[in-house]
Amino acid sequence: APAQPLQGKHVLITAGPTRESLDPVRFISNHSSGKMGFAIAQQARAMGAQVSLVAGPVALATPPGVNRINVETAEQMLEAVMSITPECDIFIATAAVADYRAADVAENKIKKNADELTLTFTKNPDILKAVANLPSPPFCVGFAAESQNVEAYAKRKLTEKKLDMIAANDITLAGLGFNSDANALQLFWPEGSRNLSPQPKTDLAIELLNVVIERYQHKTTH
Ligand code: C5P
Repeated sequence: APAQPLQGKHVLITAGPTRESLDPVRFISNHSSGKMGFAIAQQARAMGAQVSLVAGPVALATPPGVNRINVETAEQMLEAVMSITPECDIFIATAAVADYRAADVAENKIKKNADELTLTFTKNPDILKAVANLPSPPFCVGFAAESQNVEAYAKRKLTEKKLDMIAANDITLAGLGFNSDANALQLFWPEGSRNLSPQPKTDLAIELLNVVIERYQHKTTH
């Protein structure tokens, strides 16, 4: 039988984009496919974890044995995450949460009259930061998609959000990352770092979880 290093642990994962309505027929969102988060969910389950997967709108099948909660907006994702967090040991936030939502969602379809349209946006809650700053947070892992200064920006997020680990990827690398089946990650935690080479997201998920398990065990025994 395969090793079950996450037996008895509850892993909570966010994945995919969020979708923020502008009016009854339109929304803003992003190109996140959810593939990295779904791959992590599948592998965490294979390693014996109880897995909760809070997913934005994505076209992916639920990995067997995974408890999936579908949401649309950042606020719904926050609510779902906060209801599960107290029972979870490890939180891995892969979702590409929309940074802003419309300040007012129009009740009726916005008509195309004027040559210019101005919309006002309100900042969405930072789900990962909210969880990592709870009085007794789970082991928190963030993702950082960067197009420049990858290491500096990733380390800043690690500190600012009080994370246990951050997985950074350079979105300018051809054929990797957003919407792709492959990725490469640079992992940073307060005392160290590791590079995971370009590979299919399913394999990368195993390597990532192995480092998470190592650091989680280090944290809970020190
Ligand atoms: O600050 P930035 O958006 O780059 O941080 C990325 C990390 O924070 C990811 O792990 C993402 O899932 C999480 N995040 C979140 N809620 C937000 C914004 C980002 O959970 N509103």
